[in-house]
Amino acid sequence: MEKELGAVFTPPKTAEYIVSRLGKIKETHKVLDPCVGPGVFVKSLIKAGVNKSQIFCHDINPDYKKNVEDLGVNFKVVDNLLSFNSDIYNEYDFIVGNPPYLNKASEYVRKNRAELKKIYGKINAHETYSMFIVNSIWRLKEGGKLGFITSDSFLTLSTHKKLRKFILDNCRINEITLAPANLFIKQKVNTSPVIIFFTKTTGSLNKDKRDNNMMRVIPRVENEREYTKPPIEYQIKQKKYYSLPFLIFHVEVEEQIIKLFDKAPKLEQVVQGYIGMHTHDNRKYIAAVKGSNLAEIFIKKNENIQEVDKKYKIISETLLNTNKWFPYLKRGGGDQYYRPIIEAINWEDESIKIYDIPSNVPFLEEGIVISGVSSRLAVRYMPNGCYWDSNKAIGFIIKENSVSIEYVLGILNSSLYNYLAKGIINNTNSLQITGIHALPFLVPSPNILSQIENLVRTIIREKKKNQEYNYIQEQKHIDNLVFEFYSNQFKFPSELKEKLDKNYSIYSIL
Ligand SMILES: C[S@@+](CC[C@H](N)C(=O)[O-])C[C@H]1O[C@@H](n2cnc3c(N)ncnc32)[C@H](O)[C@@H]1O
Repeated sequence: MEKELGAVFTPPKTAEYIVSRLGKIKETHKVLDPCVGPGVFVKSLIKAGVNKSQIFCHDINPDYKKNVEDLGVNFKVVDNLLSFNSDIYNEYDFIVGNPPYLNKASEYVRKNRAELKKIYGKINAHETYSMFIVNSIWRLKEGGKLGFITSDSFLTLSTHKKLRKFILDNCRINEITLAPANLFIKQKVNTSPVIIFFTKTTGSLNKDKRDNNMMRVIPRVENEREYTKPPIEYQIKQKKYYSLPFLIFHVEVEEQIIKLFDKAPKLEQVVQGYIGMHTHDNRKYIAAVKGSNLAEIFIKKNENIQEVDKKYKIISETLLNTNKWFPYLKRGGGDQYYRPIIEAINWEDESIKIYDIPSNVPFLEEGIVISGVSSRLAVRYMPNGCYWDSNKAIGFIIKENSVSIEYVLGILNSSLYNYLAKGIINNTNSLQITGIHALPFLVPSPNILSQIENLVRTIIREKKKNQEYNYIQEQKHIDNLVFEFYSNQFKFPSELKEKLDKNYSIYSIL
């Protein structure tokens, strides 16, 4: 039961830190822990001198009732999310806790989807922790304060844009501290945690107050001792959270990079991505091309499969060149610049009938393909005549004559763009079209254009001969050219180049 309800217990030092930074709790104030569990925040509040009668607790799990009531505070067995209604707005002066992290695949969210959607659907009805944030802001009085430890994914994921907008519209963000990465490791939880403090400050009249609010932002600390003496600490005006795409709550992004996102045109002016198609049965309709690594894998798999119609298909290259089969792109991964065609889709009338093929997608055109699932930004040449799948490989077409496929391949595979796309916009393994479209883009000078094009042509030519070709020298050259070109306009600091070389270049991983 505990696991299904997202029970993860906050270490006492972290709870004490959160309580210590709430500010003055007066005797008339009411404090809520909306998901109290065994009561670690209650103990910290009592230790800090808060009267037991001021402390209110909720938990859906009745097993905690006795323990929490024994602490002498008010406790209700209640579903904190579903029990919300308009009568209980503005009730508490402080709300503290560690909300459960249950995602849309969890039993709880699946079971209650319709009701959760009714209450939270306009903001986010997928993960419980984001609904707890919304719910708690609603429950707070104007000027009341929230202190949570929760998953840091809402800070950056584009799927949480509405939650961030809600926070910016209703709160002053007092502090964002990235808590130690291993804080919950003993409990086998590997979401990286953040501590947040928000003061409810609603209404359009308070917009200036929110925008000009100075936030304390602390990059990931190593251990709990560093909460009070962090090695690095930034003061950032809250309105800076409007500068990056999707209202990303950035923690350690350089001023100049924020300016780049703010001022430069967007990549979508030159490049457009399209979600591809569905076959509904890839085993049946997709074949490996003979001689490819994939064909080798299929041969091995087939050794253990008896029924002929269940076997993985392999076709010859000659067949791929007929109009019964087309090259098909459906794999992610880190390969850059060029990868041979390893898969093909059956294009006979009987098969096509089954497929979902979006009508507005310019399949078959030459372009680039970007891995939708990869730890780094990985972009490859897409020859004429391909179809592609719906998420792991995304086809993009260049729509502006002033740039070439080679140039776009060069900049997107550079360390700078890897940082922009993976370090800032989306720090998970998956990448969305909207994220690529939101990247900044500067029109190249003829000189930069031709230098990068030539380097990319060399890499592709060599990779066609030998897929394992080591292109580090060319890549270093491209990385330097892209950095210098963008830096000329946006005056990047030299430390940024060191950071890119160290963390975002291919030489940092090879
Ligand atoms: C991450 S644990 C935190 C427990 C405790 N506050 C701590 O920090 O150690 C989340 C708690 O939320 C409770 N919970 C899960 N869903 C809930 C809901 N809809 N309403 C109220 N409590 C819920 C779980 O039973 C669990 O005790």
